[in-house]
Amino acid sequence: MIKGFIFDLDGVITDTAELHFEAWKKLSDEMGWYFDRELNEQLRGISRLDSIKVIMNHNKVSLTDDAITELATKKNDMYVASLDSMTQDDYLPGARELLTHLRTEGFNVALGSASKNAIKVLEQLNATHFFDVIGDGNSVTKSKPAPDIFLYAADKMNLPANNCIVFEDAEKGIDAAKTGGFYSVGIGPEERVGHADLRFNTMKEATLFEVKSFFKELF
Ligand code: BG6
Ligand code: MG
Repeated sequence: MIKGFIFDLDGVITDTAELHFEAWKKLSDEMGWYFDRELNEQLRGISRLDSIKVIMNHNKVSLTDDAITELATKKNDMYVASLDSMTQDDYLPGARELLTHLRTEGFNVALGSASKNAIKVLEQLNATHFFDVIGDGNSVTKSKPAPDIFLYAADKMNLPANNCIVFEDAEKGIDAAKTGGFYSVGIGPEERVGHADLRFNTMKEATLFEVKSFFKELF
């Protein structure tokens, strides 16, 4: 039976990809590195350190661990500053409605995000009250595609993986959900999240009615 829902944050509840893009672009420009939207897509769902490594690999650059950390921190400072302009109007369409509906129906709800800034983002959106459990980039060491963050969230809700549905927009996020034994809902195009149990193009279509209709024997 489904008793809990675990949500990724960036790309599911709000669209921070553009803000991440702008911060990585500024850093890359300063460093003389190539960075474009296609490369930014590869950073979807993965941790900050994994992200800078993808950019460095693409540019055939190698640096010491300390230098990498310093640059990742610089990018993060720019990203965090840009979050100040985020408001309650910045939910992806449909996200707040779904979270509200899950609260009304009494489901357990957790966040399962790779971001170390998840609490700040939730506060900007005024979304903290929708979650019983917050799993973020500080909760586990191994990031997606490892299932650890979702297993952490399920454990904190006292639920086994097969009692939970994970909502994810990243290919590696769906990989993580499947490896952990969770049911999965992918948000985005077939090429990215077609391996999820159920897929919607956007959160707007991802209503509780649709989810229940699809997983009907589990409700
Ligand atoms: C994920 C984003 O949610 O968080 C990634 O999809 C990002 O793009 C990752 O790299 C880590 O975020 P942060 O806020 O800790 O740098
Ligand atoms: Mg995401």
